[in-house]
Amino acid sequence: MAVLLYCRAGFEGECAAEIQERAASLGVYGYCKTQPDSALVIFECKPEEGDHLARKISVHSLIFSRQLFVRAAELNQLDTMDRVTPIVESLADMQLCGRMWIETTDTNDGRSLSALCRTITKPLTKALREKGVLAKEEVNNRPVLHVLFRSTHSAIIGYSYSYNHSPYLMGIPRIRTPKGAPSRSAAKLAEAFKVMIPESEFERRVQPGMKAVDLGACPGGWTSVLVHYDMMVAAVDNGPMDEGLMNTGQVRHYQEDGFQFLPKRKNVAWLVCDMVEKPKRVAQLMADWFIGEWCHDAIFNLKLPMKSRYTAVQQDLAAIRERLSEAEVYGYELSAKHLYHDREEITVYLRKKFKS
Ligand SMILES: C[S@@+](CC[C@H](N)C(=O)[O-])C[C@H]1O[C@@H](n2cnc3c(N)ncnc32)[C@H](O)[C@@H]1O
Repeated sequence: MAVLLYCRAGFEGECAAEIQERAASLGVYGYCKTQPDSALVIFECKPEEGDHLARKISVHSLIFSRQLFVRAAELNQLDTMDRVTPIVESLADMQLCGRMWIETTDTNDGRSLSALCRTITKPLTKALREKGVLAKEEVNNRPVLHVLFRSTHSAIIGYSYSYNHSPYLMGIPRIRTPKGAPSRSAAKLAEAFKVMIPESEFERRVQPGMKAVDLGACPGGWTSVLVHYDMMVAAVDNGPMDEGLMNTGQVRHYQEDGFQFLPKRKNVAWLVCDMVEKPKRVAQLMADWFIGEWCHDAIFNLKLPMKSRYTAVQQDLAAIRERLSEAEVYGYELSAKHLYHDREEITVYLRKKFKS
């Protein structure tokens, strides 16, 4: 048995280290198969253990994985004239699934297979419905069937649980940035809002009129996301802010050092920070804002080093926890994700669980 994990190409090592550590914490010891830049990690383990991991390891809590599913079949010599029949035959023991995602890895090789994915969708759906593997209509409360094409003649097929998977095809959310956003960085904060805040909580956590502080704001991509949600933003950066954003009347620009800036009042709901700085310094600053009760929620980037990225991330997150614990600050949530729009950085979300 095995679980498959999708990640950004080039981050297979981090993804593998993380699944190995998390599986070991559940008493599951396996090994990873992967290739550089394949955007895929296969964690091989004993029968039944893959299913156990898919139920127990929260996909949301994995930093470097976009998706996790259990392998049910692997077909390496598909007849390119009829791929449907062997796929259906390989799934004789499959439980009823609520929907199917036909996927590729997020690589150039993967993208070259997207036409095949489109053309096979209809006939494969029909055949799997007739076989009773797929529900007659798409339903959300059943497992998702993943058909991962690795080449024109090979596919890995498996399933993920609807209560524990990324709800997006290939684990990649579609992100809309505000119209006229002055930098592409806007997509990072927009994605963090979409992926890291549970949908059921969004309205409560992101409200019009909230006060926000954006450290390292220029030219204003992240600020544009906060403005889009009708927040009032203190944008802190020595650089120039986008004029259109300043004209909204929702932004005040402070040409100050983000490490020195503090708001006049303790009424800030959101702190966001995209300063290009040493991760340890940023982590410390974010913890200090929490200890001082200067904000309620914070989203920030931690840049990754060139080497030992997984260890560095663990150390940075541990440093935040330690600093908060030393200051006897409890009752917070800390989560981190290597988002689709993140490259050499991860995005961290720190929030107080209770309103003070
Ligand atoms: C990656 S850019 C931010 C992009 C921005 N989030 C956006 O969406 O447009 C990093 C910014 O951090 C700012 N910065 C770096 N160190 C800073 C500091 N100590 N105080 C304030 N701003 C800082 C830089 O001037 C730069 O504009």
